[in-house]
Amino acid sequence: MTPQKRILTGDRPTGKYHLGHYVGSIANRLRLQNDYECYFIIADLHTLTTKPNKAEVMGIEQNIRDMIIDQLACGLDPDKVTFYVQSSVKEIYQINLIFEMLVSVARLSRLPSIKDMARAAQIDDDQLPLGLLGYPVLQAADILMPRAHLVPVGKDNEAHVEITREIARRFNFLYGEVFPEPDVLVPDSGTLIGTDGQAKMSKSLNNTILLSDDAKTVEQKVRGMYTDPNRTRADIPGKVEGNPVFIYHDMFNPDVAEVNDLKDRYRTGNVGDVEVKKKLAVAINNFLEPMRERRAIYEAKPNLVDEILAAGNAKTRKIAQETVRMMDEAMGLLYFKN
Ligand code: TRP
Repeated sequence: MTPQKRILTGDRPTGKYHLGHYVGSIANRLRLQNDYECYFIIADLHTLTTKPNKAEVMGIEQNIRDMIIDQLACGLDPDKVTFYVQSSVKEIYQINLIFEMLVSVARLSRLPSIKDMARAAQIDDDQLPLGLLGYPVLQAADILMPRAHLVPVGKDNEAHVEITREIARRFNFLYGEVFPEPDVLVPDSGTLIGTDGQAKMSKSLNNTILLSDDAKTVEQKVRGMYTDPNRTRADIPGKVEGNPVFIYHDMFNPDVAEVNDLKDRYRTGNVGDVEVKKKLAVAINNFLEPMRERRAIYEAKPNLVDEILAAGNAKTRKIAQETVRMMDEAMGLLYFKN
């Protein structure tokens, strides 16, 4: 049997996942966990690149807990996936420093993602932290630390995986073959529209349905969803295409006959928004129900999450130590090491 290829992916600890995360990345992770050796990072250090506050001020610990529970609730299996916290693997800091020698400031400065993050955090050009410029280098350290082969990320992170490949190539060229050049995998699921009709579901836009929302909250949020604004009465023909309510029906309602019937009646002005939305809320709640059941297990035993992370951190550290050893050997940094 050939050894499984390794995946490294993850998120910054920004808080609970919503349906957009599910569609954009978690669904993909669920498929991949069966075929790859998976490492999923919670990249807490990356959150410091725009906001170097105390962790407790940013609620990082709670966010990590929420995000691990969300992923477990989705069906990611801790026997298949190694979950770990970036800052608990100090080797990442070491690898990051070496990688800083292998990439130019000019290359990093040209990345639109850095400018986007600076703008979003209201950081002026002359205040740009070195660490934010180095965001992709730290990400390269994350990815190459377990010598990963495949990196599933969103489109916005594609350029960072390209930098990672360049760093791997440069390291291998200078010191000898240590790192695979990891491939990027951008799922073609696209971006989920927000409940308000904005292009993207996002916490900052306040247009999310959380995976952890209870049934009542889902009903409420769906009731308030944006639909065809021209349809002020149930007998006015409505627009199905691009309508978030129908986009969600297509995505989360497995009853295709029901969805087609609703679409027909919507187009011809034979259904009220209330019925369309009620059926959508039922569909989304059915979709979330198995997650609620799994979530209850972990919420009843909070120690489980601590144990999963402790085991994941420890397993990851061993691999990280191996990698640092390989790097030191390749670079000839073995003097006075005892
Ligand atoms: N940059 C990712 C984000 O946008 C988070 C991240 C940090 C990451 N390190 C990673 C993703 C390594 C994939 C692989 O939140």
